[in-house]
Amino acid sequence: MDGRDEIRPGEVVVTAPAPRDAGLVFIGRIHTPWQSRSACPRQGRRDGPICRIEIFEPWVAALKGIEKFAKLEVLYWLDRSRRDLVQQNPKHSDQTTGTFALRSPMRPNPIGTSLVKLERVEENSLFVRGLDCLDGTPLVDLKPDHCHFSADAVPQPEDFQKR
Ligand SMILES: C[S@@+](CC[C@H](N)C(=O)[O-])C[C@H]1O[C@@H](n2cnc3c(N)ncnc32)[C@H](O)[C@@H]1O
Repeated sequence: MDGRDEIRPGEVVVTAPAPRDAGLVFIGRIHTPWQSRSACPRQGRRDGPICRIEIFEPWVAALKGIEKFAKLEVLYWLDRSRRDLVQQNPKHSDQTTGTFALRSPMRPNPIGTSLVKLERVEENSLFVRGLDCLDGTPLVDLKPDHCHFSADAVPQPEDFQKR
């Protein structure tokens, strides 16, 4: 418990239900040219092939306004990954590294993210460049790369630089 979890005078605590694992609803499917992991790029490239993100009903209405954005953050479920590795030896490394220090698809909750370039929107499909996932990968979420309502909310790359 850290300082923020302390109960202050006047606050009321109830008996909460036991925490449960979160449930996900896949909102679509990603169509890419890649059928095998060996064929898939390790990270997407802005000049990569156009891939189609298909949105399922009833979520198509949630695309309203998305065409205003040039870049989107895509979250997907790397469904063909093993999930029990805590230390890994990446292919092009001679070191064993912890899973959370890697962007490997093998992780306890195999969520992949990519920043993609939005080329066009057609009905229930987004056509984008910059993906690196297998054909048929389930879609978890989509968001614009920045907040529409506040220019100050745009994260600047230097905010994240360590040196
Ligand atoms: C290194 S991960 C990076 C994913 C994402 N860009 C990220 O950084 O979170 C990309 C690799 O995951 C593997 N991969 C792609 N789609 C997958 C899927 N549906 N299930 C399991 N592995 C997948 C492929 O080997 C691909 O090269």
